[in-house]
Amino acid sequence: MAFNDKRIVVTGVSSGVGQATAKALQEAGAYVIGLDVKPSHMYCNQFILCDLSSQASIDAAVGEIKQPIDGLANIAGVPGSLPAQLVFRVNFLGMRHLTCQLLPKLADRASVVNIASTAATSWRNRKKLSENLLTLNDWDSCLAEFEKLGMSGTATYDFTKELVVLYTMLASSSQRHRGVRVNSLSPGAVHTPLLQIFYETMGDELLKSLKTQAGGRDAYPYEIADAILLMLDAKGYWINGTDLIVDGGAEVLMNLEGLATPPLPIP
Ligand code: NAI
Repeated sequence: MAFNDKRIVVTGVSSGVGQATAKALQEAGAYVIGLDVKPSHMYCNQFILCDLSSQASIDAAVGEIKQPIDGLANIAGVPGSLPAQLVFRVNFLGMRHLTCQLLPKLADRASVVNIASTAATSWRNRKKLSENLLTLNDWDSCLAEFEKLGMSGTATYDFTKELVVLYTMLASSSQRHRGVRVNSLSPGAVHTPLLQIFYETMGDELLKSLKTQAGGRDAYPYEIADAILLMLDAKGYWINGTDLIVDGGAEVLMNLEGLATPPLPIP
């Protein structure tokens, strides 16, 4: 994959998957415009301090980004151990607002990748609820409607990832006339600082079983980054409006249950 002369915006570049993606993109020749609430200058050609929980901070960051942009990777996210309102703002409202503001700056045939999670795989079960929120384009009214649901932080994490999957489909449908693709990518467990918090909030049992089903280990950040590059790359042009599960095959074993070959260690 070659990203020479491509200008790609990446959020969450100070840690984990975002940092690995910025590194992989730079190595492939891209000009990386990194956004994060924590300062970091590693693997970024331009770094912009941006708090995705704040509309004003996002608007200021967008003002510093010159067009054209060839790709956008929305990777920043926070866990369900934080207050529900903050999780909703960062994982959904901030991601959506940044994307909406950047759409006019995206070149034709640009690609957007939004990071969801395998925690979002049951998005169909709550589709009506999600659709209700997705129709509220205004930040404050969407937040007010969400608050009426009274969800815990942990439940909000899963719900925001379901919203990411559905928002991705909506955005892809509105942008396809100019060849701009919008996809989501759902990682299983990944070795990052976030994973330790997941063990505390989601419990050992689920994550250990995911690890077993993925062949005895969690993903390394660079493995998720490589899949993100695959979706950003122009060669993936016909991949659009879809959610790609990147979990080492764990989900398949869950779906097949007794029919599957039992998990064995992978190299
Ligand atoms: P991480 O904690 O290593 O990195 C998250 C990044 O987001 C950090 O650099 C952090 O400063 C930034 N961030 C947090 N709040 C922000 C805000 N208000 N404004 C701007 N930036 C902010 O986490 P990791 O694991 O790299 O997560 C990346 C994405 O992958 C997240 O969206 C997460 O939900 C998702 N994910 C992670 C999994 C895992 O097992 N690590 C599994 C499935 C999905």
